[in-house]
Amino acid sequence: MIEIEGVQHRIGAASILSDIGLRLPDGKLTALIGPNGAGKSTLLRLIARLEPLQDGTIRVQGQDVATTPTAALARTMAIMVQHNSVASRLRVRELVGFGRWPHHQGRPRAADRAAVERALDAFGLQPLAGRFLDELSGGQAQRAYLAMTFAQDTGWLLLDEPLNNLDVAHARALMARLARLVRETGRSVVTVVHEVNYAAAWADHVVAMKNGRIVAQGAADDVLTESLLSDLYETPVEVSRHDGRPLVLHHHSHSQIDQRERGVEMLH
Ligand SMILES: Nc1ncnc2c1ncn2[C@@H]1O[C@H](COP(=O)(O)OP(=O)(O)O)[C@@H](O)[C@H]1O
Ligand SMILES: [Mg+2]
Repeated sequence: MIEIEGVQHRIGAASILSDIGLRLPDGKLTALIGPNGAGKSTLLRLIARLEPLQDGTIRVQGQDVATTPTAALARTMAIMVQHNSVASRLRVRELVGFGRWPHHQGRPRAADRAAVERALDAFGLQPLAGRFLDELSGGQAQRAYLAMTFAQDTGWLLLDEPLNNLDVAHARALMARLARLVRETGRSVVTVVHEVNYAAAWADHVVAMKNGRIVAQGAADDVLTESLLSDLYETPVEVSRHDGRPLVLHHHSHSQIDQRERGVEMLH
């Protein structure tokens, strides 16, 4: 479990996170949703100690992130951040190999090399393994960073908008892979998702954030409601059901476009 209590975060005079209290369950796929600027990335970065904690406590599997040695934390959780800026003159296989660092501290063994090959296989990266990162498309690079995170082989995976740049087939394959990882190996995944239907279709647990606060947390069916989502995104949405899961309808443009086009026809 990840336990977060009394976390606040400020940048200068701006309050970025306030009163964050959260329990992220073990062995579940948790989706973190909310509008741009809600504080989702900041919260993930604090959990992974990429930002120093200013106030409150965060424990991951009982380990206080403020005091746990980096090597121990890196074997407990892996994070994929939203904006990667690793040197681009790095080959895909080398990047994925960095994920093994916490396990070998610079002396990779056969087991580490095997883990890298498994991660390359899992993300369809074998044909690209010898390429430099700056020779990849956005989606291919995203898959390489994901493979590095997977290769770290931790009980917790924190992913910030992993679906960015992925086409529908790769996006679906990733969500299916995460769900399988959780179901079959008992790992715990926390992922920021931008398109709320990926949360609706795949998440066990949903945390909704807005203006630096937690608005709701709970089972997907309980959080992904019309009233909550309409308030969260300040835009009217409808929630239907499909295959026993919520389906969020937020593309209202059809009727508006139809009306506008009819208006244009009338003018002619
Ligand atoms: N380095 C920074 N300096 C000032 N404000 C920042 C900085 N980084 C993020 N913020 C602000 O913090 C808030 C939360 O950002 P972020 O955690 O990235 O939100 P989200 O990931 O939900 O879109 C936003 O209002 C953003 O503008
Ligand atoms: Mg973000």
